[in-house]
Amino acid sequence: MGNRQIQIITNSLDETRFLGKKTGKNLDPGTVLSLTGDLGSGKTTFVQGLARGLDVPDNYYITSPTYTLINEYPGRYHLFHVDLYRIENHADFDDIGLYEILRSDGITAIEWADKLPQDFLQEYLAIHIDIFNDESRKISMAAHGLRGENLIKRIMEKKWD
Ligand SMILES: Nc1ncnc2c1ncn2[C@@H]1O[C@H](COP(=O)(O)OP(=O)(O)O)[C@@H](O)[C@H]1O
Ligand SMILES: [Mg+2]
Repeated sequence: MGNRQIQIITNSLDETRFLGKKTGKNLDPGTVLSLTGDLGSGKTTFVQGLARGLDVPDNYYITSPTYTLINEYPGRYHLFHVDLYRIENHADFDDIGLYEILRSDGITAIEWADKLPQDFLQEYLAIHIDIFNDESRKISMAAHGLRGENLIKRIMEKKWD
């Protein structure tokens, strides 16, 4: 019986980055993370931390791949950072190689994953960010599948430091 859900309040950009880093340190290869929440909620900030947790070298600056749709970074596992904000139609998923990276052993983090058709992702960790106010966010994680459950378990077991 794994823990399937966790909610964390962060009170600054750094805390969200730190949660991303902690998540990145505890990921199994092949994990897919869907990121949803309004513009400016902190999806990219979270991925910046995720990259640090995956040992992506510091000289890579992570920005939203809003126009390129996918950015790729070397790390302990390969990180694919996807942003579907500007995706026009589903045929484009093939063009950007989405099917292929989802099947890879890398980590795939998808901003605006709510643009995907329902049931497109099978196993994934859903991360939703709600804006409370200028500095506070509620970050909800829900596991869909074993990798996500393991991850949530590891995050809960470890001290918040
Ligand atoms: N607790 C917080 N977590 C994340 N970002 C925060 C937080 N508080 C304020 N911010 C601000 O919110 C913005 C988040 O931007 P970004 O990560 O690019 O969002 P998104 O990718 O969801 O559009 C940044 O300007 C950041 O400084
Ligand atoms: Mg973004």
